[in-house]
Amino acid sequence: MNITVVNREDRVADEVEIILYLVMEGDATPSGLDFELRPAMVSAGKITVVYGARGKQHRMLVGLGSVAGFDAERLRRAAGCAARAIGTEGYRSVAVALEVSADNLNEESFMEAWVEGWLLGRYTFDKYKQTPQQQSIERMFLISENKEPQSLNRMIARTVHRAESIMLARDWCNEPANVMTPGYLVEQVERLFAGRNVGTRIYRGEELEQFGMNGLLAVGQGSRHQPALIELTYSPNPSLPLLALVGKGMTFDMGGMNVKTGRDLSEARFDMGGACAVVGALDFLLRNESPANVVALIAIADNVPGAGALLPSSIIRYPNGLTVQVGNTDAEGRLILADALLHAQRLGAEEIIDIATLTGSIGHALGLRVAGVWGHRSCTEKLQGIGERNGDRVWPMPLVDDDESLLRSEYADLNNISSSAYGGAVAAALFLRKFIGGSVRWAHIDMANTVQASAHRGYETAGATGFGVRLLADYVMHNSSLHGEGTDL
Ligand code: BES
Ligand code: ZN
Ligand code: ZN
Repeated sequence: MNITVVNREDRVADEVEIILYLVMEGDATPSGLDFELRPAMVSAGKITVVYGARGKQHRMLVGLGSVAGFDAERLRRAAGCAARAIGTEGYRSVAVALEVSADNLNEESFMEAWVEGWLLGRYTFDKYKQTPQQQSIERMFLISENKEPQSLNRMIARTVHRAESIMLARDWCNEPANVMTPGYLVEQVERLFAGRNVGTRIYRGEELEQFGMNGLLAVGQGSRHQPALIELTYSPNPSLPLLALVGKGMTFDMGGMNVKTGRDLSEARFDMGGACAVVGALDFLLRNESPANVVALIAIADNVPGAGALLPSSIIRYPNGLTVQVGNTDAEGRLILADALLHAQRLGAEEIIDIATLTGSIGHALGLRVAGVWGHRSCTEKLQGIGERNGDRVWPMPLVDDDESLLRSEYADLNNISSSAYGGAVAAALFLRKFIGGSVRWAHIDMANTVQASAHRGYETAGATGFGVRLLADYVMHNSSLHGEGTDL
């Protein structure tokens, strides 16, 4: 699909099949509309199609809600709804009249939000369908007040890249379990970054043993597919402090010997949402040529038990000296993340952000729209602020020191499950903290509750959300700019 910014005077609106008008409660009716708006038409995300008489253009109203509280996220969501409606109706060319009064968004940010929401909202994952859904739309014109609309095209290109990196994360996360095995994930990562400005190293089998990555080896030992750790280095600015992005890549979480039960366990394939977030963020940083000094560590395993699978009561020894007794093989994410956290410090990371679909408990605490974040306040506050702006929302959660005692084991230094039925997400964060050295800044994001959407909603589509790509990428760019490296942010 081609997206072009044009000036009103270019009169392209006359050539398209349908014109989109953004309508807001309490705002003036757009100049091109010759009828009264009904209150329902302006509610956020509401789509109304007004069919023109023969020979006349069709029009679509896109509701943005009230002027109060209007922000980029509301616009992204409305754009996602509009994109799907355009797809359903089968239009090939649209023009968007972007004339609304939004005090807190300049024209560039406004268009950026619109394009991002639009592209994400029309996402489909139908590569396995005999007749994939056809995308009808070929051209979108954005009508600008700007006399030199070409100046906005760089922003459009960057936004397209951003959306593509998020959709890449969705694609990989959506892949069915018979395709997305550890080996396949490794291959895909190698292929994605081949020939680009990234150093790639894969640790498997003996290499994992050599570095004492015993969490990965233990979790993966019962599966037909061997575990791996991927290390990707993107360092165009090596003088910046090294930041490690750590992602949980459990290609299928069947629970191990503590096997999960249920009518449909298909969602266990989304347990690689953290890995996908890290890959997508790195992909975007590269395409954007952002200044950074980043190492991405993706811990990959398959928690599907065979006869040789990890047994409860087993004790894992980590290279920092800690021993962990496995109380429950379904609390496997923390076991493999521990290896990656230690490895990040081995590589000299001064700051680490890990992101994982770690606990069901986080959804009980926060619901399904906002992920949880723990760790050093300097990181968590920044992540929270960035997420409020870019849509990947996180909320700070406490590291309750006293609760460390809940991770006590009779035989080892730690148990991988808490003895309490409450606060499981906090216990998991406390577990991870045990693997962080004193001088390292660290944040942990539990995105088990935001990895997937159950239905189309705004720019989310049913299935994987791609949560975390924007959050991590914007965090890296923000960090680089704080250290005086140029960025477009
Ligand atoms: N990957 C799951 C967490 C999860 C649950 C992600 C639901 C997405 C949706 C994790 O490995 C897990 O199984 N956690 C257990 C931990 C428990 C055994 C202490 C959980 O949350 O139930
Ligand atoms: Zn699990
Ligand atoms: Zn898991």
